[in-house]
Amino acid sequence: MALPIISVCSAVLALVFLSCKWAITFFQRRKFRLKHHCAKVPRGSLDPFLGLDRIVRLNNAMKERRYLQFSRQTFEEHGNTYTTKLLLRNQFCTADPENFKAVLSTQFVEFDAGWRRAKAFKPLGGTESVLTTEGKSWKHARAVLRPGMSQKLAVDYEALEIHWGKLFNILPKNGETVDLQDLFFRFTMDSTTQFLFGEPMGCLAQATLPSTIVELINSFEMSMSCAYRRTALGPLSYLDRNYSAEAELQHVVTTRRFVDNMINEALIRYNENKSSKIEDTIAQHKSLFEILMETTSFPAMRDHLVTTFGAARDTTGTLLSQMWYEVSRHPDVFTKLKTEVGSVLQGQLPTADSLKKLPYMDQVMKETLRLWSPVPVTMRIANKDTTLPRGGGPDGSSPIFVAKGSEVLLSFNALHRRKDIWGQNSDEFIPERWSSIDPGWSYLAFSNGPRICPGQRRALAEGAYITARLLQSVARVESRDEQPFEEFMKVTMQNARGVLVGIFG
Ligand code: HEM
Repeated sequence: MALPIISVCSAVLALVFLSCKWAITFFQRRKFRLKHHCAKVPRGSLDPFLGLDRIVRLNNAMKERRYLQFSRQTFEEHGNTYTTKLLLRNQFCTADPENFKAVLSTQFVEFDAGWRRAKAFKPLGGTESVLTTEGKSWKHARAVLRPGMSQKLAVDYEALEIHWGKLFNILPKNGETVDLQDLFFRFTMDSTTQFLFGEPMGCLAQATLPSTIVELINSFEMSMSCAYRRTALGPLSYLDRNYSAEAELQHVVTTRRFVDNMINEALIRYNENKSSKIEDTIAQHKSLFEILMETTSFPAMRDHLVTTFGAARDTTGTLLSQMWYEVSRHPDVFTKLKTEVGSVLQGQLPTADSLKKLPYMDQVMKETLRLWSPVPVTMRIANKDTTLPRGGGPDGSSPIFVAKGSEVLLSFNALHRRKDIWGQNSDEFIPERWSSIDPGWSYLAFSNGPRICPGQRRALAEGAYITARLLQSVARVESRDEQPFEEFMKVTMQNARGVLVGIFG
C-alpha cells in the first residue's frame, strides 16, 4: 500500500515542480519580450503544434527537386521572416539582411551551428572539423586551417594551368553537345585533391571516367546529400522511401576510405621529400595535408581534410557551372567577357595581378553567385533566449523573440532574389547591375562574420582563371538545353540536368 502512495506523491510533486518551472519560464520570457519590444511573428504553417501541413509541403518540394522555389514562395506568402514548427522543432525562417547580420555577426555568440548539423555530418566529417564544432573547439579548428587558406598557399596558378590543359584536351570543340558541369566538377575534384593532398586525383586524365572514380564521386555526393537531408529534416528524413541508413553508411565508408588512401599516399610523398631534402621546391605551395602534418593529430587532420574537400569541390564546381549556364544563354555577356579578357590579358596566361583587372568578370561571378548561391541556405540554433532585430509586427519591422533551442534558417537564396532589394528583375541574370550597387548584408554568397567562408579567394581565383582560359580558347558557346534549371540539393546545390552546351573552337 505504501508504494502506490509514494508513487502518487512523487508524481504530484514532479507535476507541481514542472508546472512551477513552466510558469517561471513563461513569466520570465514575457518580461524579456516586453523589455526588448518583441512583436508577433507570422506563422508559416496552418498546424501550430507540429507544423504537419508544412512538413508535407516541404517533403514534397524536396522530393520534386523544387525546394528553393518552395522556400522563396513561402517568404512571399508569409513575409521575410516567419516561424514554423517541424514536429517539435521551433524554426524561424528569414531572408532579412538585418537578421543575417545579427545571427552571423553582432549576436554571433548566441547562435551555434548546432548539434543537428554536427550529428548529421559526424559519420563523414568526424568531430574535430570547423563544420562540426562550436566555441573554443571551432576557434581551434579554424586557426589550424588558416595557414593553408592564405592566398599565397591556396592558389597555385601553375597547377591551375596544368588542370586547365587537361580539361581543354577532353573538351569537344566541334559543337558536339557536352555537359560542362561534369567537366567543371572533374576539374574541381582534381584541383581540390591537389590543394589538399599535393596530387590531383586524375579526373581529367581521360574523356571517360573509370568506373572506380564514378563510384567514389557518387558515394561522396550521396554522403553529402544524406547529411544535408538529416540536418534539414531530422528524423523525418527517414520517411523518405528512397533513404536507407545502410546505403548511407556504405557511401560514407567509401568516401572515408578514399580520403585515407589519399592521406597514406601523401604521407609517403611527405616522408620521401623530407629524406631527399627537396622541401624548398614545394614550400611555396604546401598542400593542406603538409601544413596539418606539422600542427595537428592524425584523426583531426582526417576530419579537416574530409570537410574541406566537401566545402571546396562542389561550391566552386557550381560557381563555374552556373556561370557558364548563364554565359551560354547570354551571347552578349560572352562577347563582353571575351573582349575584356582579350584586351587585358593580351593572349598571356592569367596571373593573380591580371585577374584583378577584369571588372566585368567580377560582376559576372557576383551575379552568378547571387542568383545561384552554391550554398543556398544555412542554419543556426539559439543557445540562449534572445531576439532577432526584425520580423515582428504588421510590417515585419519589430524585433522578435527567439527561445533557446530554436532554429534560425538563413536563406541566402531567397535574400539574393528579393524584389524589394534587387528590383523587379531580381530573377534575371544582369551582371551590369553590380556597376552601381553596394549591397552590404544583402549579398552573402560566402556568408559573413567569424564563420565567413575561408576559401572565398581560392574559389574566385579558380572561377576567374578557368573562365578566362576558356574565353581565350574558344570562339563561341551555345546552350543546348531549353529546360529550366532543376535543382539537386546536397549541402550545396547544382543543376540536376547538367550544363549542356555546344562549344566551337
Ligand atoms: C564559390 C565557392 C564557395 C562558396 C559560395 C562558399 C560558401 C560558403 C558559405 C556560405 C559558408 C558558410 C556556411 C555556414 O556558415 O553554414 C562557407 C563555409 C566554409 N567554406 Fe566555403 N564556399 C566556397 C568555396 C570554398 C572553398 C574553395 C573552400 C576551401 C578551400 C571553402 C571552405 C569552407 C570552410 C572550411 C567553411 C566552414 C567555415 C566555418 O564554419 O568556420 N569554401 N562557405
